[in-house]
Order: sequence, then structure tokens, then C-alpha cells
Amino acid sequence: MAKDKITVVGAGNVGATTAHIAATRRLGQVVLLDIVEGLAEGKALDMAEASPIYATGQDILGTTDWAATADSDVVIITSGVPRKPGMSRDDLLATNTQIVKSVSEKVVEYSPNAFVIVVCNPLDAMVHAAAKTTGFPTQRIMGMAGALDAARFSCFLAAEMDVCVEDIKCVLMGGHGDDMVPLPRFTTVGGIPVSHFVEDAKIEAMVERARKGGIEIVNLMGTSAYYAPAAGAAKMAEAILRDTRNIFSCCVYCDDEYGVGGYFVGVPALLGKSGVEKVIELDLNSTEKAQFAESLAHVKALVGKVDTLL
Ligand code: NAI
Ligand code: 2OP
Repeated sequence: MAKDKITVVGAGNVGATTAHIAATRRLGQVVLLDIVEGLAEGKALDMAEASPIYATGQDILGTTDWAATADSDVVIITSGVPRKPGMSRDDLLATNTQIVKSVSEKVVEYSPNAFVIVVCNPLDAMVHAAAKTTGFPTQRIMGMAGALDAARFSCFLAAEMDVCVEDIKCVLMGGHGDDMVPLPRFTTVGGIPVSHFVEDAKIEAMVERARKGGIEIVNLMGTSAYYAPAAGAAKMAEAILRDTRNIFSCCVYCDDEYGVGGYFVGVPALLGKSGVEKVIELDLNSTEKAQFAESLAHVKALVGKVDTLL
């Protein structure tokens, strides 16, 4: 049986780490592509040379040539500038719109049947840019952010409670910005509501830290995070390729769902072999609805700007 093929566009921090996880998880043949001559080739070779030590997958190719990506099953787009201290994700919009547009055109040319996972920021607007440029069915286009933001929230909760992080399940909605909407009411620890274990004020502090989780790391190291973002992207690819039917907080197309009206935004969604198989509609209370509406309004404003650039 032919191996699945995963192309990761952008061999920078997020892209290279995603490719490494994909190879380690043996998700299939991994192609890492960058515009910088030698960068993807060098990183892919380094990863292949690491494989004998941990016996990980070595089927990884670095390239600048889109022809090598032909007929990919999944394309993960990480090619974009990251923010520096003092910048918001929105400051990246103009530059990254052009990059995502040009990369999306290549995806149409070389892998017209691929599932596309966008990582570039500002995330929700870049998913829109990829969807509009490719014209792919919306089930095949999605963005990775909620997996990361939910992981951050879970990580903080696990540390606070001193429990196994895998026992924490949480949901997060809205755009990937400071107005994202973590949902403690739907967060459980070993199947038990988190409110059973942690007082409201502490939960709220961790919600706030998750909202600002991106800039916390930018301020520490001068560029944005990549280990956790790459883990989120690789896990979404795995869900599609292996039909795991995991539910992710991720950026997907919503029309009637939550009354969104035709935008890509973060919601809980089930991923499987057909891509986005189902959006899970939660019964939000009035506060949660208001927070989601505010975040969605922000996404809509960014999409409006993207549309003037495409
Ligand atoms: P980076 O600067 O380390 O890597 C970006 C790579 O893309 C560079 O190697 C660059 O040469 C390459 N590139 C640029 N234009 C290209 C093109 N047309 N074709 C192929 N490659 C191209 O940046 P990093 O840290 O990997 O971040 C990438 C993007 O992901 C940024 O926009 C960042 O804001 C975003 N990000 C999003 C997250 C999320 O949760 N959605 C989390 C972390 C980062
Ligand atoms: C993050 O949240 C940069 O969006 C990225 O780390």
C-alpha cells in the first residue's frame, strides 16, 4: 500500500518541528519545503540521520522544488513570518497573506486533493486566505490554534493541580487572539468538572494566561513558540491520515453552526478521514456567547482586510 504523503511548507521553527514529529510518528513520507536554498534539505538530512538512534521514520525529504510535493495527502502551511516582542499576530497579516496566497496556488497545482492545515498567523484570517485561494471544499481546509491554546490551558491546570495532564480535557473557541474563549465550564479532569478541584479565581487566572500564552513565549525568547504548535499540527494531520476521529478545538468553516455565517473560526470539531467531519455545537451560556461573538467580530474584521489583499 502506498504511504501517505505529508508536505510541510516552511522549514523554520514550526515547520521543521512538525516534520520531525511527523517522521517520528511515522505518519508517512514527509516532504519539507522552504524557499531558502539548503534550509529544508539540511534539516531533513539531519532528521534522517537522527532516525537510526531512536529508530524513527527516515522517509523525509527537504526541498525547494514544489514538484517533490506532488500528490500530498496533507499539506501543513507554516511558511510565514512570526512575531517579535511588541508585535501582535495581526501585525503579520499583510506579509503572511501574500505568502499563504502564493503557497496555496502551489498546493492547488501539485496536490489538488490534499487536506490543508494552516498554521501561519493571524491564524483564522490565513485559513480564509488559503480557502479562498485554493477553492478547496471547506471540509479539507482547517487551521491549527485551538489544539495549542487548549494544550496551554491543560498544562497550566495540570501543574496547579499536580495531576496527569492527559486527564485534562478542555475546549476552547473563537479566534486565535487574546480574545480567544477558553471554556472552563466544559473542562474536565478525569471526567470530573474542573470546578470540583480549582477555585474560580485560579481558573480565571489560568484562562488569562492561556489567552496570553503566545506573547509569554515571544517575550521570553524573541520569537514565537514551536514545540507545542508543531505537536498540534502533527496531531491534526494524524487524525486525518489515521482516521482517529479525535475532537479538536480548531479553526474550521462554520455557517449555521453557532450562527457564524460563513467564516473560519475556532470551534470543537471532529477530524477523520474526510477532514472536518463534524462541528460540535455546545450549549453556550450568555457570557460564553458574548465572548465568542466578540472574538468572531475580530476575525471578521481581519478577514475583511485579507480580502482587500487577495
Ligand atoms: P520561521 O521564521 O521560523 O519559519 C518560517 C519559514 O517559512 C522560514 O524558513 C521561511 O524561509 C519560510 N518561508 C517564507 N516564505 C515561504 C514561501 N513562500 N514558501 C516556502 N517557505 C517560505 O517562523 P515560525 O516560528 O516557524 O512560524 C511560522 C508561522 O507560524 C508564523 O506566521 C507564526 O506566527 C505562526 N505560528 C502560528 C501558531 C498557531 O498557533 N497557529 C503557533 C506558532 C507560530
Ligand atoms: C502562539 O500562540 C505564535 O500564535 C502563536 O504561540
